[in-house]
Amino acid sequence: MQSVSPVYFESLYQQQSDPWNYETSPYEQQKYAETLAALPRRYQSGLEIGGSIGVLTEQLAPYCQFLLSIDLSPTAQARAKQRCQHLPHVQFQTMQIPQQFPAQKFDLIVLSEVGYYLCQPDLLKAQQLMIKALLPGGHLLLLHWLEQASDFRLSGEQVHDCFLAAETGLTALVSLRRPQYRLDLLTLDV
Ligand SMILES: C[S@@+](CC[C@H](N)C(=O)[O-])C[C@H]1O[C@@H](n2cnc3c(N)ncnc32)[C@H](O)[C@@H]1O
Repeated sequence: MQSVSPVYFESLYQQQSDPWNYETSPYEQQKYAETLAALPRRYQSGLEIGGSIGVLTEQLAPYCQFLLSIDLSPTAQARAKQRCQHLPHVQFQTMQIPQQFPAQKFDLIVLSEVGYYLCQPDLLKAQQLMIKALLPGGHLLLLHWLEQASDFRLSGEQVHDCFLAAETGLTALVSLRRPQYRLDLLTLDV
């Protein structure tokens, strides 16, 4: 099975302005608050993968001197750009991982609710790219829902377990389990 296609997400965003109710859901707001609370410091250069319509992007912005938010949907990115237009240090690029990936390095990479849309080979390629793009001492924040959806290629548990496998050289600094999601803040072993 292949990763979920750009056409799928683009058509979702063309039909609905906020497919997961990020703007209004108390659950999402609580999840975002816990995501930000897990970050122990400010960062020079952040990468957010799958930034959607920019609700988390806007909240992540104060934690980063520079933040690049990527997503494969141009429609989602147009909404995110509008939401973040008051934040000149936040940039956007339409990219599909792992086929495309930013060339620069980051001390924060956020993968929130994206990993399970990738098939296993693509997740492994994306993982290698993220590890390569992480500056020494940098942090990789993973957050995934633990229930099943018909469009998932992997479970949230599989995504996190893949990053915590011994051979990645990543270690968890923070690990949280809630009834509906799992959060891991990882760093590369020195
Ligand atoms: C469920 S939303 C998550 C949004 C946000 N990260 C959050 O946690 O609120 C998943 C997003 O990932 C994007 N996406 C899915 N696969 C992707 C890929 N291979 N490369 C880049 N973006 C992707 C989708 O377009 C969608 O906007």
